[in-house]
Amino acid sequence: MAVIERSLMKYRDKLRRAPRLSRRKVVTGLLGLGAGWTIGGIGRIHADTSAPPGASGLRHIRLTAAQAKASMVGRGQPQTAVWAYDGRIPGPILRLRQGEPVRITVENRLDEDTTVHWHGIRLPNAMDGVPGLTQPPMRPGESFVYEFTPPDAGTFWYHPHANSLQQLGRGLAGGLIVEEAEPVPVDRDLLWMLTDWRLTGDAQIASGFGNGMEAAMAGRIGNTVTLNGAVPDDEPVQAGERIRLRLVNSSLARIMALRFEGHRPIVVALDGQPCDPHEPEGGRVMIGPAMRVDIILDMQGEPGRRYRIVDDFYDGLAYRLTSLAYGDEPSRRLAPDTPIRLPRNPLPEPDLAQAERQELVLQGGMMGGMGGMMGMSGMGRAVWAINGTSMTGDGHAGMPPLRVLKQGSSYIITLRNETAWWHPMHLHGLSFRVLTRNGQAVPHHQWADTVMMAPREVVEIAFVADNPGDWMLHCHVTDHQTAGLMTVLRIA
Ligand code: C2O
Ligand code: CU
Ligand code: CU
Repeated sequence: MAVIERSLMKYRDKLRRAPRLSRRKVVTGLLGLGAGWTIGGIGRIHADTSAPPGASGLRHIRLTAAQAKASMVGRGQPQTAVWAYDGRIPGPILRLRQGEPVRITVENRLDEDTTVHWHGIRLPNAMDGVPGLTQPPMRPGESFVYEFTPPDAGTFWYHPHANSLQQLGRGLAGGLIVEEAEPVPVDRDLLWMLTDWRLTGDAQIASGFGNGMEAAMAGRIGNTVTLNGAVPDDEPVQAGERIRLRLVNSSLARIMALRFEGHRPIVVALDGQPCDPHEPEGGRVMIGPAMRVDIILDMQGEPGRRYRIVDDFYDGLAYRLTSLAYGDEPSRRLAPDTPIRLPRNPLPEPDLAQAERQELVLQGGMMGGMGGMMGMSGMGRAVWAINGTSMTGDGHAGMPPLRVLKQGSSYIITLRNETAWWHPMHLHGLSFRVLTRNGQAVPHHQWADTVMMAPREVVEIAFVADNPGDWMLHCHVTDHQTAGLMTVLRIA
């Protein structure tokens, strides 16, 4: 134990001494850049996938996964070798319509197997993109046709579910928006995909994925955060406008807590599912890996001024993500008084009185005392476990379900984090109500597919097991998932 604690302290020291992630400083320091390098990407949503429905009424989208080069740190600076969908970091924003079928043909031009997982979409199990478990992986040169009808409107994303540490960590990810039939009126609808990278001095993705020490701690946290694939500068805004901002954290491990100087963000949806509009706790928008938060931002700042957006999740490592830069035009009006509550999605409400209870205990990690023998399934070293069993990797054939849930029944699942670390716990194929945290009722009718768990926290979630199949449940800190913090729930 003493050894472990000492190395933990060393690690914390290292984190503290890590370069401050004020982008200007970090990246400038790393690359020796002068001021004035340009940045792209306000993240305006454009009709990326405007392919009209064909004669069959089926919208058809094509995506290709391949190696590419991206300008992440600014024009005139070294390009970064990445793996990307359609050659872009992040991949194209897919825009689907609620209740309308879509066909997405994915071509694998990588040098290794891949799949695509449509994170958060309640879809048929065979379309879930888990290699071995729900589909054979696409070999290099192969394609796979995904077909589903998104039942819920909201903010989702897509990413591979094979060799996830590298494939996600090298850039394979994209935003997915399912449009409401009647969206709430806003002046602009933006998606910001926030991604943490570990870059070398010449702007290349650092090797060393799957470091065992990191896997037992906070995971692979990087040194550069991009907004829609580029290190952000300022985001131009106009006094008086109302923005719907869809935040997506596609990082391998970095948890973020965003503070909007001088502004009051209102959370209207979590993981794509509408909640009662509310101000975030402590004014900070907390967003862990794989989570999405939709906020409404009324631009009530002063014309000509800049307001910082700061991520201060990690103690002593706060950095400026970007700034809202107001144009000089005077405010054209007060905040609009149009409604901001999003229409509910057709989620079945769990019957809490009749629900069956299950408990999942998260174990292991540094200082977690995971001694003794654990059940093992998969390849790779396990440092984490759920109920004493470690499933490692990204999914594979023959993963035995930890529990079999009865189709159509309601369940309350207690997630008990017995570790000393944070875990954004994700369930495939369903959305769940977040009922309680440490015994306290969770307000605002929060539904999620990924729930953040603080060290030692106990969270109760509830859902109707209405979607048959084998569904992954895992931590979305990718190092944790691949090192054992993963299991399978079968609904049959
Ligand atoms: Cu985004 Cu298995 O998850
Ligand atoms: Cu998922
Ligand atoms: Cu975790």
